[in-house]
Amino acid sequence: MEENFRNFRNWLIYQVYPRSFFDTNGDGIGDLNGVTAKLDYLKDLGVDAIWLCPCFKSPNVDNGYDIADYRDIMDEFGTFEDAKRLIAEIKKRDMKIIMDLVPNHTSDQHEWFVESRKSKDNPYSDYYYWFDQPPNDWKSSFCGSAWQYDEPRGQYYLHSYAVQQPDLNWDNPKVVKEMQDIVDFWVDLGVDGFRCDVIDRISKDFEGNRNLFGPNLHKYINALFGREKTAHLFTIGECHATDIDEICRHTQADRNELTTLFQFNHLRQTGRIDKWNPKPKELRTARDILTDWQILHQERDILHTLFTDNHDNNFFLERAADVRELRYESATCISTLVFLMNGVPLIYQGQELGCCGSHYDSLDDFNDIESINMYHELIEGGTTPDEAMEKINFGGRDNTRRPMPWTAGENGGFTTGKPWITMASRYKEINLETDLASDKSVFKFHKALFALRKAEEVLCQGTFTPLHKAKDNFALYLRELDGRSICVVCNFEETTKIDLPEAKGEILLSNYGRRDGDESEFRPYEIAVYRMK
Ligand code: NOJ
Repeated sequence: MEENFRNFRNWLIYQVYPRSFFDTNGDGIGDLNGVTAKLDYLKDLGVDAIWLCPCFKSPNVDNGYDIADYRDIMDEFGTFEDAKRLIAEIKKRDMKIIMDLVPNHTSDQHEWFVESRKSKDNPYSDYYYWFDQPPNDWKSSFCGSAWQYDEPRGQYYLHSYAVQQPDLNWDNPKVVKEMQDIVDFWVDLGVDGFRCDVIDRISKDFEGNRNLFGPNLHKYINALFGREKTAHLFTIGECHATDIDEICRHTQADRNELTTLFQFNHLRQTGRIDKWNPKPKELRTARDILTDWQILHQERDILHTLFTDNHDNNFFLERAADVRELRYESATCISTLVFLMNGVPLIYQGQELGCCGSHYDSLDDFNDIESINMYHELIEGGTTPDEAMEKINFGGRDNTRRPMPWTAGENGGFTTGKPWITMASRYKEINLETDLASDKSVFKFHKALFALRKAEEVLCQGTFTPLHKAKDNFALYLRELDGRSICVVCNFEETTKIDLPEAKGEILLSNYGRRDGDESEFRPYEIAVYRMK
């Protein structure tokens, strides 16, 4: 694991939400052939590895995070042959593929659950958690109780998410074996890693009354990835560990568990009180949280994952910075700040174009179970329809799940049919075609940013040293390796006079056309990257 950990810092990972990436058969739903069709685009951006959100057989109650067969492909996304071709084409371009493993729950249509619910004594009866009465008052992340009475079996089962997503019982060794076999099945097909969905939930802490971080969590993760067959994989856990010791217990090389974990604090605390409620836009919070994590990850010699966006949140840009006049400057500032840090960069589809959130007035324009349940819960609790709509517009997951806008044409060139969900409300203005034709292309900036990271070993492998102070409204940091050094400056909302280190040399990257020797104040969201003498 040790050697891998350093190599992974040379990667750029790109998250694809296949349902919304590119549709090749006109049914309005993105498909695997659509991902294959855009591989050259991704290669051109500088992508090394693709994280593909779940593409397995699924009734799509939670857009693929409810899996009915882990060894087959969802009908809308194509065939198993398409998956094999996609993997082959990725390899041909010397790229990697990371699949999304959902180990905590299945769909209620999975044959394990279909069998399990039939009786108390069948081969699958203990694959899930069954109780005569709910043993606690755990809540589902998608609203309401996490316990559901099941008529056929006459018992309650646990579902941490939708009713149709029963939690697997990992305390049953057969379940552990099933998951190992699924991992091995995809490894044999050439898969290079896994993003592990809510992996912190696979061991429940019934005694401590917590539906996560149970007593056997490390044992189960180790059973999945601590094997010779899996030692080379890149594994990233969706795990809500917020304490560095706990993070280390998952990711230090000798633990043989995971390569890295997502840290969500900077997403959670920037520009929002909570998922559904905004607070003023600013970047300092994210800077401070990321700076602290950088130092801790470095001290402990573990890999930090550098990201701001995913399919579970509105675009970070929308709540952290200016999405109108200074959208280009804001998007490029955020990416410079985060992606030039020490760790593995991970970008979400559309982020490379500076995509933003959407605004709609009708629930018909929403699809996500979380937003729709939340809307109804808010209305039942007395919130007005307008206010409830405001909240799901702000926090809803559909924002980042709307189709990728490739062109300014109909449906953004995503499909020739009717998109499965309404396009982003600003897609005519924010799309790849328009972006590339603009003097301020967010895509071209990202391409230059990633090319720079790749060209300068110090940006991949060097140490991180912050030079900004808590009161500063900008980020200023150094990356250093073997006597070489690069300085990164990212100004935030206001024009600022920034005192730069004396030894700064040539400018390697700028988003305002700043030139060597220019000592002027930094304008809002202006960035500059300097080689140090
Ligand atoms: C986290 C995933 O990112 C999210 O999209 C999903 O709804 C839940 N886990 C349940 O699988």
